[in-house]
Amino acid sequence: MKQVRIAGKEWVPALGMGTWMIGENRSKRAEEIATLQRGIDLGMTLIDTAEMYGDGASERLIGEAIKGRREQVFLVSKFYPHNATARGVRVACEDSLRRLEVDCLDLYLLHWRGRVPLEETIAALEKLRAQGKIRHWGVSNLDTDDMRELRELPGGNAVAVNQVLYNLSRRGVEWDLLPWCEKHAVPVMAYSPIEQARLLRQPGLRALAARHGATPAQLALAWLLRREQLIVIPKASTRDHLEENVAALECPLDAETLAELDRLFPPPSRATPLEML
Ligand SMILES: NC(=O)c1ccc[n+]([C@@H]2O[C@H](COP(=O)([O-])OP(=O)(O)OC[C@H]3O[C@@H](n4cnc5c(N)ncnc54)[C@H](OP(=O)(O)O)[C@@H]3O)[C@@H](O)[C@H]2O)c1
Repeated sequence: MKQVRIAGKEWVPALGMGTWMIGENRSKRAEEIATLQRGIDLGMTLIDTAEMYGDGASERLIGEAIKGRREQVFLVSKFYPHNATARGVRVACEDSLRRLEVDCLDLYLLHWRGRVPLEETIAALEKLRAQGKIRHWGVSNLDTDDMRELRELPGGNAVAVNQVLYNLSRRGVEWDLLPWCEKHAVPVMAYSPIEQARLLRQPGLRALAARHGATPAQLALAWLLRREQLIVIPKASTRDHLEENVAALECPLDAETLAELDRLFPPPSRATPLEML
């Protein structure tokens, strides 16, 4: 498994597992658990969740899936901006730990920026770190100006990742956010890497994938995975989808294919505000 270094010292898999909208339907539960367990077996040991997902249902299902395998997994969860206060972060973290049935999160993210001053949130996260309840903290959906501001605050340079919307059809981050994160050694986690499956219907991508002997999902993921310092977290709720996605790691893209992808999905030609889903 290709690895990405976070916080200057720890290696995590470049391909992890998203879990938005899992754990919400009883009839799908067994396959969702089997999928997460298969993903761990295949080296996709980074699992991304949030207190928001299914109002805790995603965290509860992950807790069940990783029972007895906690040490193999790098667990990422997120808290709501309205829980970003000193007390709110502590309570939200304890709730997530209880639902996941673990003692510690590997990475804890502010889901998006709200009204609570970032200083207060950083101080609360550092306290959780000192107490051993989280190992690293980071942010999600923060644009370049927010990242600049965050890094300059006391303790702000401990930010371990920024999780943002990034895929072939959402390339705005290439203009300034990705270069900024690269310069400051803050790895980016690309969420919705296949645009919640909408990309897979794009005729140009389908045709190119067919010529390449790959599927559209594999091409879209391989395009992201070729970057250094980028963690990609597709969500799959079946083992068939998961196994198709993991094979994207074995899907090298030549210059001609990359040029064709640039033609189909042009890179940004100016700064645009960060998009989010
Ligand atoms: N920080 C944030 O604000 C934020 C926002 C959005 C997402 N996220 C995180 O990022 C993760 C991934 O993003 P996402 O779930 O929005 O979208 P995504 O990963 O781009 O797409 C997921 C969808 O694609 C389908 N799919 C996956 N692999 C497939 C394949 N090989 N062939 C056909 N369909 C396939 C899935 O279907 P099945 O479920 O049927 O397999 C699901 O419907 C989330 O789950 C979440 O953990 C974070």
